Amino acid sequence: MILVTGGAGFIGANFILDWLEEHDEAVINLDKLTYAGNTDTLSSLQGDARYLFAEGDIGDRGLVNNLLSEYRPRAVINFAAESHVDRSIHGPGDFIETNVVGTFHLLESVRAYWMTLPKDEQAAFRFLHISTDEVYGALRSDQRPFTETDRYAPNSPYSASKAASDHLARAWHHTYGLPVISTNCSNNYGPYHFPEKLIPLCILNALAGKELPIYGDGQQVRDWLYVKDHCAAIRRVLDVGRVGEVYNIGGWNEKTNLDVVRTICMILDELRPRGDGLPHASLITFVKDRPGHDRRYAINATKIERELQWRPLETFETGIRKTIAWYLENHGWVENVISGAYRDWMRKQYGT
Ligand code: NAD
Ligand code: TYD
Repeated sequence: MILVTGGAGFIGANFILDWLEEHDEAVINLDKLTYAGNTDTLSSLQGDARYLFAEGDIGDRGLVNNLLSEYRPRAVINFAAESHVDRSIHGPGDFIETNVVGTFHLLESVRAYWMTLPKDEQAAFRFLHISTDEVYGALRSDQRPFTETDRYAPNSPYSASKAASDHLARAWHHTYGLPVISTNCSNNYGPYHFPEKLIPLCILNALAGKELPIYGDGQQVRDWLYVKDHCAAIRRVLDVGRVGEVYNIGGWNEKTNLDVVRTICMILDELRPRGDGLPHASLITFVKDRPGHDRRYAINATKIERELQWRPLETFETGIRKTIAWYLENHGWVENVISGAYRDWMRKQYGT
């Protein structure tokens, strides 16, 4: 049995679906079901005896202690977080509460449980902490991609809260010996991505004939990692990663935001041409930049390749085609996600 937190979110849900395709080992998913949590994503697991769902907060010690002592997982994989930079700018409080304080409580619950385990189970136990490349701050175009030993320099409330949680996870290993491994990945994309993030937002807006909002000049660079490649990397880290280590996980796919959106538009022109014959790129609109917008992130994923023999399978071109095809085929999921709360966010952020 493994315990996954935040498994109703984008990456956690993809991870659970992937895990149960690859394994018969059961999963318990602890998720608070914030606006970003969606049980629809996991509806195919209804009735599957290998899957259990517990609604709740990683910071709820009583609940987490009970889950741990009842189900006795051999690993905890912590995906639960507030994850959207723009929301962290509007309201950083939830980010501190979940990403910092919540991670602290989770580490304490897990440590108390871990200490009760027999020695061999203690040694085999893992706490995987899922983090982001944004903790390393922004790169200039002439700087080399982030490595695991780079200095932390988080710039947004989101990345600062994730950086704090990384430090807690590190300290719980160093001080208490909890078998922690941390991963810092680049921007994920793929199926079940909540449409507040650039790629799903642009796919859905383009299909609806709405503007595609590009912040500032659109020349900011991100590295894009197909979510299923990320899930495979996490499984690999759980299997053979070294305790106390950090692994950077990236897609070797650096792209400017404008290139990403133009690529989406070109593929949609091919798969779903507009009725009026205009290219989807005509919807691109430059809007006010994000405050403190990091110019470039890039990941050097050599360590995980060398030590754990993991490399992404998808290029951006193959992964984005799969992603667009998925959104075209999964209207039901999209319709359910675009709820009242989502519309409130779109009004607040984009005035639409
Ligand atoms: P997401 O926002 O889609 O999902 C987060 C999930 O956590 C949701 O299901 C939500 O309900 C749950 N959650 C939030 N607060 C909780 C709490 N207090 N207790 C229990 N559950 C709670 O996020 P995601 O994109 O799936 O990201 C997962 C993890 O990966 C996060 O830690 C994020 O920082 C990290 N990450 C994401 C990306 C990316 O591109 N999406 C990149 C790098 C790192
Ligand atoms: P996002 O998907 O929010 O991820 P992150 O900020 O964690 O990298 O944004 C990816 C990039 O796209 C980022 O540089 C901000 C930019 N962006 C836009 O230009 N317009 C948008 O509407 C959004 C949501 C993001």
